[in-house]
Amino acid sequence: MSNPDIITLKDVHTYYGASHVLRGMNLRLAPRSCLSLMGRNGMGKSTTIKTIMGIAKPRHGTVTIKGYNSNRWEPYVVAKAGIAYVPEEREIFPNLTVRENLLVAARLSVEGQDNWCLERILDLFPRLSERLNQWGNNLSGGEQQMLTIGRALMTNPDVLLLDEVTEGLAPIVREEIWSVIEAVKREGIATVIVDKNIGKLMMIADHHLVIVRGEVVFSGDSIELSAQTELLHQHLGV
Ligand SMILES: Nc1ncnc2c1ncn2[C@@H]1O[C@H](COP(=O)(O)OP(=O)(O)OP(=O)(O)O)[C@@H](O)[C@H]1O
Ligand SMILES: [Mg+2]
Repeated sequence: MSNPDIITLKDVHTYYGASHVLRGMNLRLAPRSCLSLMGRNGMGKSTTIKTIMGIAKPRHGTVTIKGYNSNRWEPYVVAKAGIAYVPEEREIFPNLTVRENLLVAARLSVEGQDNWCLERILDLFPRLSERLNQWGNNLSGGEQQMLTIGRALMTNPDVLLLDEVTEGLAPIVREEIWSVIEAVKREGIATVIVDKNIGKLMMIADHHLVIVRGEVVFSGDSIELSAQTELLHQHLGV
């Protein structure tokens, strides 16, 4: 039987030079599902996402994307396979306008569909539609983050990887971004989310992994996680 999961990591070990960061990481992302990665600082959440994206290369183990071994894929190949990545540091072109930033990212989905056109992105982010002709570097931090997410959606991805995208933003902007994440989820795009807001993740994600020193110490849904009071306290500071 073919593997129904859209992304899998099996016993993945990733290093930065001599530093052994992922130590047997396992993960499965089902199509259309939302997976959260939790854990304290430095435990390997971003490295897990970078390993999926081909930014960090696994030294042992197997990363699979849509059934193909992607261990050696470069990030642009991963992106072409329908995986979009929104890092914490915003990635926009400062000297293009908002409209240009969105349009240069546009691409059909792997299946050739164009679900996310400019109009839909602007419906999702009304603030951006007010600022269409502004330069990227004239935007506030929150608007730049919305633009980064908008650019990722313009690629019509099957998977969106969101690494601390609400970090450092005003509460009202965070709320707007969470409602966009919920809309993306309703649309059937699978998501992997890292965020400090455990409560939101408990509401939105179908499945959670708690990572400690590059390994999964808990895997389960929100009901199962909320029963783990000791683990929540020890590894998430809740
Ligand atoms: N480019 C790099 N070179 C060397 N070490 C790195 C590099 N990036 C991360 N590390 C180290 O790898 C470990 C895991 O980092 P990672 O960024 O994956 O953690 P994280 O769980 O995302 O943490 P945070 O919550 O702080 O974002 C940390 O010890 C970090 O210092
Ligand atoms: Mg990180």
